[in-house]
Amino acid sequence: MTVFVHLCTVCNMYIYDPAAGDTREGISSGTTWEEVDPSFVCPICGAPKDAFTPLEGEAAEAAAVKYQGFLDKKRPKAALTLAGVREKSQEHLMGICSVNKVCDGDPSRLCMGQKYGAPIGLGGVGKGLAFTSNVESLDRVRLKMRLITDHAEPDLSTTIFGKDISLPVMASSLSGVKASMGGKMPESGFAEAILAGCVKADTIGLIGNTSDDGEETTGVEAVKKVGGGIPIFKPQANDRLIELIGMAEEAGAAAVGVDVDGASSTNWERAGKPVFRKSVTDLKELTGSTDLPFMVKGIMCAEDAEAAISAGAACIDVSDHGGRSLGATPGMAEVLPGIVEVVDGRVKVTAGGGVRTGFDALKMLALGADAVLLGRDIARAALGGGADGVKLHMEYVRSDLRRGMLLTSCDTVADIDGSILV
Ligand SMILES: Cc1cc2nc3c(=O)[nH]c(=O)nc-3n(C[C@H](O)[C@H](O)[C@H](O)COP(=O)(O)O)c2cc1C
Repeated sequence: MTVFVHLCTVCNMYIYDPAAGDTREGISSGTTWEEVDPSFVCPICGAPKDAFTPLEGEAAEAAAVKYQGFLDKKRPKAALTLAGVREKSQEHLMGICSVNKVCDGDPSRLCMGQKYGAPIGLGGVGKGLAFTSNVESLDRVRLKMRLITDHAEPDLSTTIFGKDISLPVMASSLSGVKASMGGKMPESGFAEAILAGCVKADTIGLIGNTSDDGEETTGVEAVKKVGGGIPIFKPQANDRLIELIGMAEEAGAAAVGVDVDGASSTNWERAGKPVFRKSVTDLKELTGSTDLPFMVKGIMCAEDAEAAISAGAACIDVSDHGGRSLGATPGMAEVLPGIVEVVDGRVKVTAGGGVRTGFDALKMLALGADAVLLGRDIARAALGGGADGVKLHMEYVRSDLRRGMLLTSCDTVADIDGSILV
């Protein structure tokens, strides 16, 4: 049989074979070269139709064999991209989160609006005021570009809980794949992805505490499996917390903590598992039960910061669960400076809520945080790309934080302070 094909003379690889057509271009078999639309381009290199030459006989056969070899060749998997990870996360979050370019809690977003008892997914509680306040307050903070200084490559490294990390950004504690994130990934896979992704990015991950039956210890077990991380437990009865803190010690956790703003957790209440506010005495008992640095997460006022310090906390996290606890709290950028002033360097201060870029992280550091925590973006990264997705997201934030430090003349994390704000 005489083989008659057209070869692309630009890439010398693609052949148009009328017997096969071209399914990628939607051209069915039997379509002659003359019938192929003049706008046709080589699907490999994009060369126009007039760059093709006819081949027949042995030359056509040889070209067909070469092209088949190209098609059969095992190519390395396409590199994971952050855009690809975010797109993939949509498969998990269908009907819950539309993975917008900016996660801002705008009332028109899929996640927002009053839920009248339905799960809040990735949104904020109530009318979403606390969620939007976080983003909007940070948006109002602006950076001073300052360039006429001696050049230095910014050093993003810092130390927290005795651990050196390569950037002052960590994953915040997250949990509840079934309750809030579509349930298509096991809670253990989610927790391990976050913690391992943070290890890969040379930082530390916090991990949350789900109320799902049989999964309450998944976070701390993931810390053990991955060999690092900080479990943050819901404010359950102290006896139970002391048991869990013991597990964290055994797991090799870098620190341990309680999210005091989980005192009204809908998921825990729904599951019939009581959670409580904690008194200074309660917290003293917890901090006294362990040598691990203790973090109190969910501090939104100077009184609580003072109380946590007096109870022996090594770190307070200024946050409001990403606007998921008390639906009308002020934004992070509004409360953080006042709390930092009261703390006055006595303990570490982390802060999270509305941080979406490296520039946002820089602002939080300038407002006084020692390190910054990322919530929703890390959830999406873990769902869409596992540990590599989390690492990619951290690298994205690192890149803009480095750029921000460079353009505000901050050579080290210690150089970042209120003087870079306008
Ligand atoms: C889906 C979801 C689950 C969360 N689960 C927990 C948790 O188990 N424990 C906890 O301390 N905080 C939890 N948080 C709060 C985050 O740790 C963090 O404070 C918040 O997400 C930061 O705001 P951002 O999402 O705007 O970055 C959760 C937040 C979300 C969105």
